[in-house]
Amino acid sequence: MPDLPCCYCATIAAVDAAYPVAPAVFDIGSAAPRCARHWRYVCGQCGQPAHFMATAYCPQAAKFFCVRCATGRREVAVPFWAWEYSYEYQSPWSGGWEPTLDRLEFEGRHPGALDAVSKEPWLVRYPEQPGQWRASGTFTDADVQANWNVNARRWDAGYDADGDRNRRYQSDEPMLALLGDVQGLRVLDVGSGNGYLCRKLARAGATMTGVELSDEFVRIARHYEDEALLGITYVQASITTPDLLPADSFDKAVSNYVLMDVQDYAAALAQVFRVLRPGGSFVVVISHPCFACGPGGYVMPAPDSPRREERTAFRVDNYFHRGPYLGVWGNFSPVLSFHRPLRDYWQAFAAVGFRVDAFEEPSITERGRAELPLGQVQQALRVPYSCIFRLRKPGGGQ
Ligand SMILES: C[S@@+](CC[C@H](N)C(=O)[O-])C[C@H]1O[C@@H](n2cnc3c(N)ncnc32)[C@H](O)[C@@H]1O
Ligand SMILES: [Zn+2]
Ligand SMILES: [Zn+2]
Repeated sequence: MPDLPCCYCATIAAVDAAYPVAPAVFDIGSAAPRCARHWRYVCGQCGQPAHFMATAYCPQAAKFFCVRCATGRREVAVPFWAWEYSYEYQSPWSGGWEPTLDRLEFEGRHPGALDAVSKEPWLVRYPEQPGQWRASGTFTDADVQANWNVNARRWDAGYDADGDRNRRYQSDEPMLALLGDVQGLRVLDVGSGNGYLCRKLARAGATMTGVELSDEFVRIARHYEDEALLGITYVQASITTPDLLPADSFDKAVSNYVLMDVQDYAAALAQVFRVLRPGGSFVVVISHPCFACGPGGYVMPAPDSPRREERTAFRVDNYFHRGPYLGVWGNFSPVLSFHRPLRDYWQAFAAVGFRVDAFEEPSITERGRAELPLGQVQQALRVPYSCIFRLRKPGGGQ
């Protein structure tokens, strides 16, 4: 046994005593030192290094390719060595599905080719994402609008009639339960985006109005409306605009992942309060401010590993910092949001006159448990992604 064993060799040797443990030569001094075979491989497509489990090999092209360049990614729940599952990535060259290098090694099909091993001696661990927090007061509604205009088409592409994956499998069900019956009611969707929720509620019998800042999103929503008329009115404006809509003119309102993206959220709340009838309710879904506060994410001994089980803890920091930040989401252009602690929302609701009458923290729904791979279910059970308030404007019976 070498003095400093490779952490992945050691993981395998723990379940297969015959496995030869190689000495660590990369990332020495870290919590996850690694041998050359279990280090990073340079992708033949993008030229960037990736973890050996985030790399597959295309036999047709005789090249390695990384998870970022793969055209598809799936999990295969067949145990091997110490692991319960492996990944398969789709080759950008042949379109074939290829196992990642850990699985190839297990099957005795590892291509070797250690000249493709990255030369970098260690990982840069948890680099501060430079400039992610931005100075307060530097952004206006015009910036928010421009930011969403850039992302609107890509955002819409990730949706079906039930929203994106998070809405479909986590938050829509509790959000709709808190909103209750909308049949025959006048309902306002604040920050309606591509309009999927307006359409869903219109189909449930509501008379819908969507207010949305991004003209690109409004164009997309109106296009859906032209294709299948549901009688939805879209207003392109900031919800903070004074007297945008008549007072007391809605029975219910909803804002679905919007207030954390609204610069002047207190003004937005005041306007929704004004346009709701007395007794009307407002359901507010936001990215959970306790877990979405600027740079965050999971702590991992090997931060480049794609494996969920290597995520040892969820990192929360700067919770009390208030201000704009750019969130990095998949392949979207960075999304501009405004972090505030939970209590700021709570106090702002009360300040305009709302009463909070329900609070939810969505996890995975039954449908999600049935339809998502186990790994994604487990992931969703670790920390909440969102929280939901139901606010009521006093008066008017219910
Ligand atoms: C994360 S998206 C959510 C869109 C939609 N509710 C959904 O769930 O798909 C946030 C939306 O809030 C909108 N928004 C941000 N500030 C706004 C404001 N002041 N007035 C109206 N909409 C605003 C953005 O343009 C964007 O469409
Ligand atoms: Zn090793
Ligand atoms: Zn690549």
